[in-house]
Amino acid sequence: MGTILFRSARRAQKTAVSSLRGKYTPPPDKSITHRALFLAALAKGTSQIKNPLATGDCLSTLNALQKLGVSIRKGRGIWTVKGKGGLQSNSRRTIDCGNSGTTIRLLTGILSSQGVEAVLSGDSSLKKRPMKRVIEPLRKMGAKITAHKDNFAPIRIHKDSSLRGITWGSPIASAQVKTALLLAGLSASGKTTVIEPAKSRDHTERMLKGLGVKVGVEGNRVTVTGGAALKGFNISVPGDFSSASFFIVAALIVPGSHLILRNVNLNPTRTGLLTVLKKMGAKIKVLRISNKDFEPVGDLDVRHSMLKGTRVSGAQIPLLIDEIPILAVAASQARGKTIVKGALELRVKESDRIAAIVSELKKMGANIKERLDGFTVTGPSSLRGAPADSRGDHRMAMALAVAGLVAAGKTKIKDFSCTRVSYPGFVNDLASLLHPKPR
Ligand code: S3P
Repeated sequence: MGTILFRSARRAQKTAVSSLRGKYTPPPDKSITHRALFLAALAKGTSQIKNPLATGDCLSTLNALQKLGVSIRKGRGIWTVKGKGGLQSNSRRTIDCGNSGTTIRLLTGILSSQGVEAVLSGDSSLKKRPMKRVIEPLRKMGAKITAHKDNFAPIRIHKDSSLRGITWGSPIASAQVKTALLLAGLSASGKTTVIEPAKSRDHTERMLKGLGVKVGVEGNRVTVTGGAALKGFNISVPGDFSSASFFIVAALIVPGSHLILRNVNLNPTRTGLLTVLKKMGAKIKVLRISNKDFEPVGDLDVRHSMLKGTRVSGAQIPLLIDEIPILAVAASQARGKTIVKGALELRVKESDRIAAIVSELKKMGANIKERLDGFTVTGPSSLRGAPADSRGDHRMAMALAVAGLVAAGKTKIKDFSCTRVSYPGFVNDLASLLHPKPR
């Protein structure tokens, strides 16, 4: 397992001020890369995915599709997918979805509607994550699925399914559930409608519309009609806001910082953190925004700022669900109280992110208290370097690294290599922006 040692900004300050400065382009978006691969596999004809995220989670999707008979050529910065209008071959061997919830849940939806027999599984973290949320509605559509304890991987999708559309009121706001059902609905009879308690990321709806599929969107209600034929397409994947969020918060909390972020996906269903940080007093400007390949993309200017505490709950949560660990780090440096509630979903991510962020930031000296569905942070706290545990969760590892930048002394993060699933270049990118360079 990899271990990383971070020299802190404050300690470096003894010799000179260390800040983050320069221009930064985040890695390609993970959610969009997954969807581009799945839709290209379902389309008839050749698709080209430019600037795909070629890391752990998306490679899990790519490998799974190859096992299911889809031809994918991995060129440098461009993947070419030859879709046959659906998945055709059965995989005798279990398909390994690695650490990726998006791979296993979306694939369960797609395979249910394809008449393909397959078993899906993953690593020890993925095997602990709930799958009933997709199995239950897919069964209502007619799918034949069995799973460990009826809720966990391995999941077996049986061949003889023929699906009919349903209207599903999902108890949780989840883009993975929504997408699994919509993609199954493309090959089901009649209409498939998903109603969410709050709006989750809408990349699937945007992409389907862009490909000419009729998608009805009314508030939190999305409908597709079965029988839509997809044709091969070209897409260029923008930068991932979730990966960028670590750099946004780092620039806000490390004194003297000023970053220009380029080519960032600014889809409003992803950028809830921007809204919250601005309310906290963050100096963030959107420099440019334009629509490209179905998504708003732009540049940001971020400067070190004095932050103040805030409250985050309800419909805001799905708009920043993956950014809550890094929000906790920002809150530890903000004046006053920050309360995050209604975020119970965090307990079933790659780790229990509520327990993880509370215990690891506490070790570093933050005043943070656990709630069942979130936490309360009172700041600002002078953090101190400590041995911290990523718990094998990429977003925890990167959030703790950013906390380490403002902590006095050394922060050692256990199992930093888990960042390979979304952002293997994180340390290099961070080091390239630090001034003066850490020694
Ligand atoms: C994702 C949806 C979210 C998010 C995950 C990626 C997606 O999960 O946390 O990192 O690509 O659809 P949920 O749908 O479980 O909230």
